[in-house]
Amino acid sequence: MRNLIPSWVRVPLIFFIIFGVVEYVIDSGNKPAFVEYPAVLLFLLLVLLILIAIEAIIGALENVMLHRLDEEAKARFLAEKESSIKFTWLSNIYKKLLGQKPMEVESEIILDHNYDGIKELDNDLPPWWKYGFYISIVFGAVYLLRYHVFQGQNQYDELDTELAEAKTAIETYKKTAKDLVDANTVTLLTDASDLSAGKATFETNCVACHMADGGGGIGPNLTDDHWILGGGIKNVFHTISEGGRSGKGMIAWKAQLKPAQIAQVASYVLSLQGTTPANPKAPEGDVWVEEAASEAK
Ligand code: HEC
Repeated sequence: MRNLIPSWVRVPLIFFIIFGVVEYVIDSGNKPAFVEYPAVLLFLLLVLLILIAIEAIIGALENVMLHRLDEEAKARFLAEKESSIKFTWLSNIYKKLLGQKPMEVESEIILDHNYDGIKELDNDLPPWWKYGFYISIVFGAVYLLRYHVFQGQNQYDELDTELAEAKTAIETYKKTAKDLVDANTVTLLTDASDLSAGKATFETNCVACHMADGGGGIGPNLTDDHWILGGGIKNVFHTISEGGRSGKGMIAWKAQLKPAQIAQVASYVLSLQGTTPANPKAPEGDVWVEEAASEAK
């Protein structure tokens, strides 16, 4: 490694890696850390100094070593060092990939036509191009087999699976986030746990006006099939959430109750349908038939 990368590349490289790590680790708001904290600047300067010092020491050691070597070893060492500084390994790869004949032997590949002094060389295809071509053939063969012979998933199938996955993810999300319901998406809950939770909510908030059995008092009878503001889970949810007509006394409960609770208490209210309360209030509003749901909305 040391022989491959010259010091004028190595020192800045290590320095900027350390600089990057420092900036990443130290939280300094919008400003860079070395501007915000002078100590960081000092630290970085120190790092730079140490890096240069290490290079200098290694250089000095090399010199000392050089003096002790015999002539032949010295020459070998210097040649190696020379080549590393010029990045020969990189330019060798580059040259190999180009595959050009050196200028000196161009006479071997020159074609014998000549248009107004413009001549043509018969170079081989450059290796980078050839290998790219071979790789694309292999890729094409693999692709053909995978998608056309063995019917691998094409992009449409992938889209379908991803959509299905997303759908199930939404379903599970909705299950965990019950409060996402509103009057448009609510459905009648039938789980005993939901209904008993709804009953509890009803008993704390609603009995004062609707009575414990829903028979009605200040508020209307909730057990008959007559509804002032519309029956069915969506309308009932809407009434509880947004309140009744103004001045009638039914407030908008969305301030006190979460959407999930409103869905529960609305389902509980609807479960009272057809029961016979002790003191039923006379029916108010119109008879609600479930088919009317789409018209009423
Ligand atoms: C302060 C008294 C009062 C309380 C408390 C109250 N309501 Fe009401 N409620 C009313 C009145 C009054 C109406 C009639 C509103 C109208 O005519 O616009 C009503 C209407 C309703 C309706 C619509 C009935 C229909 O025929 O369309 C439902 C459903 C309802 N309330 C449910 C509840 C629930 C659930 C609670 C508890 C979270 C509750 N109410 C709490 C007074 C109350």
